[in-house]
This record gives sequence, structure tokens and C-alpha cells, in this order.
Amino acid sequence: MEKNEAKILIDKLRVELTYHNHKYYVLAQPEIADYDYDMKMKELQKLEADYPEFYDANSPSLRVGSDRNEEFLQVKHKYDMLSLSNTYNEEELRDFDKRVQKLLNDTTTYVCELKFDGTAIGLTYENGNFVRGVTRGDGVFGDDVSANVRTIKSIPLTLSGNDYPSEFEIRGEIFLPHKVFEQINKQKIAEGDAPMANPRNAAAGTLKMQNSSLVAKRGLDCYLYYMLGENLPSDSHYENLQLAKKWGFKISEHAKKADNIDKVIEYIEYWDKERRNLPYDIDGIVIKVDSLSLQKQLGFTSKSPRWAISYKFKAERVSTKLLSVDYQVGRTGAITPVANLEPVFLAGTTVKRASLHNADQIELLGLKINDQVYVEKGGEIIPKIVGVDEALRDASAQDINYITECPECGTSLVRVEGEAKHYCPNEFGCPPQIKGKIQHFISRKAMNIDGLGEETIDLLFSKGLIKDIAGLYDLKKEQLTPLERMGEKSAENIIKGIEASKNVPFEKVLYALGIRFVGETVAKKLASAFGSLEKLKNATFEELVDVEEIGDRIAQSVIQYFQSEVGKDLVEKLTQIGLQFEMAEDNIPKSNILEGKSFVISGVFEKYSRDELKDLINNNGGKNTGSLSAKTDFLLAGDKMGPAKLEKAQKLGLKIISEDEFLEMIG
Ligand code: IVH
Repeated sequence: MEKNEAKILIDKLRVELTYHNHKYYVLAQPEIADYDYDMKMKELQKLEADYPEFYDANSPSLRVGSDRNEEFLQVKHKYDMLSLSNTYNEEELRDFDKRVQKLLNDTTTYVCELKFDGTAIGLTYENGNFVRGVTRGDGVFGDDVSANVRTIKSIPLTLSGNDYPSEFEIRGEIFLPHKVFEQINKQKIAEGDAPMANPRNAAAGTLKMQNSSLVAKRGLDCYLYYMLGENLPSDSHYENLQLAKKWGFKISEHAKKADNIDKVIEYIEYWDKERRNLPYDIDGIVIKVDSLSLQKQLGFTSKSPRWAISYKFKAERVSTKLLSVDYQVGRTGAITPVANLEPVFLAGTTVKRASLHNADQIELLGLKINDQVYVEKGGEIIPKIVGVDEALRDASAQDINYITECPECGTSLVRVEGEAKHYCPNEFGCPPQIKGKIQHFISRKAMNIDGLGEETIDLLFSKGLIKDIAGLYDLKKEQLTPLERMGEKSAENIIKGIEASKNVPFEKVLYALGIRFVGETVAKKLASAFGSLEKLKNATFEELVDVEEIGDRIAQSVIQYFQSEVGKDLVEKLTQIGLQFEMAEDNIPKSNILEGKSFVISGVFEKYSRDELKDLINNNGGKNTGSLSAKTDFLLAGDKMGPAKLEKAQKLGLKIISEDEFLEMIG
């Protein structure tokens, strides 16, 4: 490979991995399977080793991902919270064993454990009492989620016995058992919310909820697998875990000692099959050197211990026939090709359909109709096609001609440069897009119109009773009662619900409009920054991007919406109808004392929460911006602010003020 080619590839992988790190650790919404992530990481590590001249201290290969959430108190781990290096085959595992033997000059006993697929936690105990629970974060600092941890019933708050060290930490994995996960998703679907992708995301998301009473209802569970401290009772990791079990911790009964690597491999083979009968997810096996003194001798690399390794299971894979491809049009007009498969049994369910994501994916796989394809269930609910058995291709194979027109409305599809998906641009004339907009409008987090659900909207739309959002407000009870399964009472409720929606506050109305990229949070920010639809409609691009968290893409989309004929027309109609297009009195700026001044808030404060401080800034005419720049006037600094931010503020010569100084400013 040419040097410049290598550089391009390294840069590309760094950007990709940083993006996926953020998705996984910060947002708990991974987009790719762990295996694919690990392969990319391995590729980057190899390139970086081959081309040391492109060293970068910020490369994602040099850190363990981050799940730091600014709202929780940041705590420094007493012992760095590292991750494990992964292997995917026997050969790599035997290499690990050889390395260990070489470094120790001897054979050694291993402990084999299940690799629980949840989210890591470090629990500190002093004199037998739970002190705090901290997430991994970036491995050095984590979030103090003690309040949430205390709600997990399998975690002891006081220990039994008297032979535990006066101070120690025990690490483990917080997870959601299958049953609980299914219950939560059932409830989410019933309430019109999107279901969660898998138990791991659900556990990570739950642990980071700000309201611990909600956490308590979620049924989280926790297995502990690693003890740290100055005076641990035994030199054997296995023995320490058995003692921890006596003190009240939940320790897996499946941990097993193995005298040699063959025994380790037997254990792996057993669990690769048996894992399907466990009531929770595991994604591999962890192998650890049992003796703590030998662990110490082996030490750590910058990322992971040399005394342990994880063996990751491959996702389950089956082969079946690709019968045809359908194309679905989403609420936003995005086209998703969907494969129809000959039904096949995979990881507990019968699979008939698989997502193909986009046209590139079909091309990349080289798919043809009637091909024998491999299907896998990764982290997502919907299985995917991961390959084709070309050797089995016969004369019946047919090319897939990707559609050029919308299957719903016939409009020519477009593909924006840099985006993978094709779109139907007929935003206001394509039935699923119109219906989608209405469904979004009435949903719980938007206008929350009682009595109306997706099915009713489908029905009203197909009968021609509503053509757009505004049409909802023209509905009469007499039009509803003749509909299937619609009683007098339900019809009345719907009309009442629609009428009541006229009081829904501005920020929700703004969200309900379904402007591209304007989600719940963005709508709130825009509503409080501009105060009324009138002001927002007339905002310039610069004024929009000046608002915290509003980037170019959102700003452009907002401008486009209010300039479009349909957007203008709808907003006009809804204004006539009497929806709330102004912030309620309370939230309108109270003074202009901070006019023209922009603030960045960082850290933890004594008197006010960060959100309250943001409101105070807005209410007094100032602006909040998300990141520091030469345009920032003040850095409002609390406790535990990141050192990088402080340094940057000093470099930029910004004024750094405390909470008290700020409160003085606004009188
Ligand atoms: S030991 C220094 N044991 O896997 C290594 N980790 O990539 C300490 N995990 O961050 C970790 N089950 O969240 C260990 N039996 C087990 C585990 C386990 C799951 C997770 C843990 C860790 C990650 C490693």
C-alpha cells in the first residue's frame, strides 16, 4: 500500500470508530455489530503499527470508549477501568496461552467465565457498606450512578460475614434478563414508543436515567466478576469470587477453573451451544489467570490486562433462499429495501424478512434473487444478510434492479451526495409520508391526542377524511361514528382530544410539525431561544446556528421548511386554528441584561442545576453555546469541570466566572 493511501485509510477508520464509539458508549445506540467494530479496530491498529509516522494521541485505538454523561458527578477510578482484548478463534486463544506461559516461564491455571453482555460497573465498599457505583466512562473517570445502583436488588448494600477487606472495589456487569427486556418492549410498543434494540442497550440506557425511581422499576440485575483492593483475602481470583458470594454478591455459578488451554476450549465449545438456554445474553467467554501474584507479574498494556482475554462468539448464522426484494417508504421518505426469505429458524425465532439497508449494501453483497444467502442476528432485532453462497448460484438467479421511482407515489427517487439512502422527495404528497407526519403529530411526545392511534389515522386517511395535519381539526363526530370499531364514546373522545391539543405548549407543537432533524430536544432549544414561531420563521442561518446544539444541517432544514409552500401553508392554517405558537408567559426573557453575551456552562454547580442556569441565561437575554470558541464571552465554571475545557478557555483568553459571579451579574 502507498503511504498516502494508508494515511487516507487510517483517517477514515479513525473517524468511523470515533463515531461508533460515541453511538455505543455515549448514546447507547450502536449502529454496527461488535464484530464489525472489532474488525475495524484491528485494521486500524495494524495500519498504525505499520505506519508509526501517523501516530496520533487521540486515535480511537488508544483509548477505551467513553460513556461519560455530564449530568452525573464525575469520579476518578481508583484503578483504571480497562477493557479486555478480544479473540475470535482458537488459534488466537492458543497464542494468548503461549504468551502467558512465556512471560511466566511456566504453565498456569485459568478461570473461565461467561462474558455478560451488559454495561460495566465498579462498586466500592467500605467496612461492609456500599459507598458508590461508577460506570466505566473513559476508563479513568466514570459517572457516579450510585443512586441508580442502589435500586438494583441483587446488589448488596451491606455485606454479610466479617472477613471482607475494610475497603475494596468489586466490578461486574449490569444487565437485563430476557424476560424483563421483553416486558419493557411490550410496554413501549403499547405506548407507541420505539422498542429498544437489545437488552444491552436497554441496560446501559436504564443505568443512565436521571430518575432513579424509574430505574427501580426496570428490573436491572448484576453479576460481579472482579475484585480489587489492597488486602484481598486470597491470592486466587476464583477463591475471592467464592468469598464474595458469601458476603452477598451475585456471582455466576458457571465460573470454572481450567488447568490448560484445551480445557478452556472445551468450556468455550460447551457455552457456545448452551448459551441459548441462559435467561440473559452473553457475548463470549472471559479467560483469566487465576493467581493474583501472577496477574501482577503479567501486568497491563495501555489498554488491557495481559492476564486476561475474551473470546467472542460469532453471531449465529443460517443459510436460506432470497425470494424477492420489497421497498419500504418511511415517514421521512427514506427507502429501505427488505429481503423476503424462505422462512428459516434462527436464534429462537423464524425469520422471513431481513433488512438490506440501502442500494450500496445490495451491490456490496453482490446479491441476486434466488441466491442462497447467509443470515445473521447481530445486535439488532431485524436480522441481516451478511453474504451469498455464490457456489450454489444457478440459472434461476436474477439481477436486482433497484427501483428508481417511489413504490407508493411514483415520484422519481433522489439520492443526496454522501447519503446512503434513496429518498422520495414528494414529502407532502406521498401517502406514507403524509400519514407518517400525521402519526408523528398526534404521538404522545408531540400533541398527545387522546383516543387517536396509528390505525385510526390509517383509516381516516384511506377514507379521504383527512389529507394533512390541519385536516384533523376539521373532523366532525358524525364523520367518525360510522367507521369500523368506532363507538359514540370513542368518537367523542377523539374530537375532545383534538380540541384539547390547542393548549399543547409551543415547543411540543414545534416538535409535532415533523421538520426534518428537529427532534424533541432541538424543538425545545429552538422554542426557548426564539420564543415564538414568528421569530423562528424569520431567523437567519447565523441566528439559528448560534443556538446551542443547532448545527448547519438543522438550521438549513428549518429555513427550508418555513420557505416551502406547504410548510408556510400548514403553519398558516394551524395558526388560524389556534395552536400555541408562542412560549408561555413564564419562559419569555425577564431582562436583557445579558444581551449579546454568549456563555458556555461546564461542571457541577451548587445552587442551580445546569438546565436551570441555561434558563437563567436565556431569560436574561444571553445565549448558551455548546462549545468554546473565540466568540464565547464567558465560561460559567462549576466543580469537576474537565481540565481540557479549562485549558482551552484560558488559551482563548475567555472570562471564567463562578456560579456566584454569574448570579451577581443578573442581579
Ligand atoms: S473482567 C480488566 N469478566 O467485558 C478486565 N469482564 O471488554 C476486567 N465483561 O469491561 C474485566 N463479563 O464490562 C470481566 N466475566 C467477566 C465479564 C467481563 C463481561 C465485560 C466488562 C468489561 C468487558 C471487557
